[in-house]
Amino acid sequence: MTKEIWIFAYGSLIWRPGFDYSDRVKARLPGWSRRFWQASTDHRGVPGAPGRVVTLVDDDDGICEGVAYCLDGDIDQTLAYLDHREQGGYERRYIDIELLTEPATRVNALVYVGDETNPQFTGATQMEALVDTIRQAHGPSGSNRDYLLNLAEALEREGIEDSHAAAIAEQLSLSV
Ligand code: SIN
Repeated sequence: MTKEIWIFAYGSLIWRPGFDYSDRVKARLPGWSRRFWQASTDHRGVPGAPGRVVTLVDDDDGICEGVAYCLDGDIDQTLAYLDHREQGGYERRYIDIELLTEPATRVNALVYVGDETNPQFTGATQMEALVDTIRQAHGPSGSNRDYLLNLAEALEREGIEDSHAAAIAEQLSLSV
């Protein structure tokens, strides 16, 4: 019997999963926060001019809300696809998440995390520099500005509030 596999999406996987799934549910990850603290040289930037994308950071007071997908179809192919897509510093982690079903259900999910030991992890940087990067960077998956705006729209559609992403989006529209 194939084991059910859930993937927790907190960035571009929310609006562009790119794989088959049998279920999609709003979900949350207590103890973690979404941050634009990961440099991107393969999707939203290039070597020498990296963009900035989201990762998850440990945060005892935080909760990251996103979307969980239950995988369907050829799972090995999907995992190979995701490993390739997330190769820019992200690692597979298996973490308990809460599916916001009625009642909520706890499942162990695969989460791609770019932690502070990966070379593309930037940590916190000044808002002005971050917004400048996002305004200018461009990579094989498109502009960094579109990544941020797509994320902001996807979070709004899902009814997810994220003050960090919202503050950057607001600064970006002010500086365009
Ligand atoms: C990713 O999946 O980490 C990035 C994909 C994108 O930038 O669209």
